[in-house]
Amino acid sequence: MAKSKVTVVGAGNVGGTTAQRLAERNYADIVLVDIVEGLPQGKALDILQSGPIYGFDSNVVGTNDYEETSGSDVVVITSGSPRKPGMSRDDLLETNQNIVGSVTKEIVERSPDAILVIVANPLDAMCHVALETSGFLRERVVGMAGILDTGRYRTFIAQELGVSVRDVSAVVLGGHGDTMVPLPSLATVSGVPISKLMASDRVEAIVQRTRDGGAEIGGLLKTGSAFYAPSAASVEMVDSILLDQKRVLPCAAFLKGEYGVSDLFVGVPTKLGAKGIEDIIELELSDEEKSELKASVDSVQELVDVLNK
Ligand code: NAI
Ligand code: 2OP
Repeated sequence: MAKSKVTVVGAGNVGGTTAQRLAERNYADIVLVDIVEGLPQGKALDILQSGPIYGFDSNVVGTNDYEETSGSDVVVITSGSPRKPGMSRDDLLETNQNIVGSVTKEIVERSPDAILVIVANPLDAMCHVALETSGFLRERVVGMAGILDTGRYRTFIAQELGVSVRDVSAVVLGGHGDTMVPLPSLATVSGVPISKLMASDRVEAIVQRTRDGGAEIGGLLKTGSAFYAPSAASVEMVDSILLDQKRVLPCAAFLKGEYGVSDLFVGVPTKLGAKGIEDIIELELSDEEKSELKASVDSVQELVDVLNK
């Protein structure tokens, strides 16, 4: 049986590590695309040469054009420009809107049946660009953020309590920004709510550190932002889609009335399988959680309004 095909657009930190992790899974051939000449070719060759050592035989190709991407089953879009000195948030939005828009056009011409996993920031807004440009049904455009944000939340809870991260489950809702909503009410250690395991000021500190999770790493790295956890999160989504695992994972989905939100990408628990987003799970929220989610939804709406200007 032929292997599946995954294209990763953007061969930078997130794209390169995503391609590496996917190749190591050994269930798909990988195409890595970037505008910088030599970068995707060099990284692809390097990853390919780890195959005999690591024990995979997925093919990995790097390219600057889109012909090689034809017939991809899943496309992960990580291409984006970082915010440069003097650049406003809106300037960055416009730059990345152009990048994600042009990339999506190239991709859908050659892979009309693909499922798009969007990673480029600002995440929720870039999902809108990909959905509009592709003309795909909402099931086939999904954003990566919630798994990363939840991964951070789970890590901080596990560190605080000295337990394995594997036994911590948690949910983060909303946009991928300062207003995201890590839910303490649904954070548990093997079923025990964290409110029974730590003081409320510690819960609050962990919630805030989760919200600032991306900035904390950016501040430490100084140039660039997080990529190990983001690529792990992206690959968890590709696994669930290509292997039809039907995992319930927090992802950015285009809502049509769920959570009282319409026509906006917002992070919510989704069921991911071979058809893409196969279900959106609606959680029961307290009034306070609802109002936090509303503030986060409003901040996504503000970005989308700038896109539509
Ligand atoms: P990076 O700067 O290392 O890589 C970006 C790559 O995109 C560069 O190699 C660049 O040449 C390429 N690129 C730019 N324009 C392109 C185009 N038109 N076509 C093809 N390639 C193009 O950045 P990094 O760290 O890999 O991050 C990528 C994006 O993902 C950024 O927007 C970042 O903010 C975002 N991100 C989102 C996360 C999330 O939770 N959704 C988490 C981490 C990063
Ligand atoms: C992060 O959360 C920068 O969105 C990126 O690490």
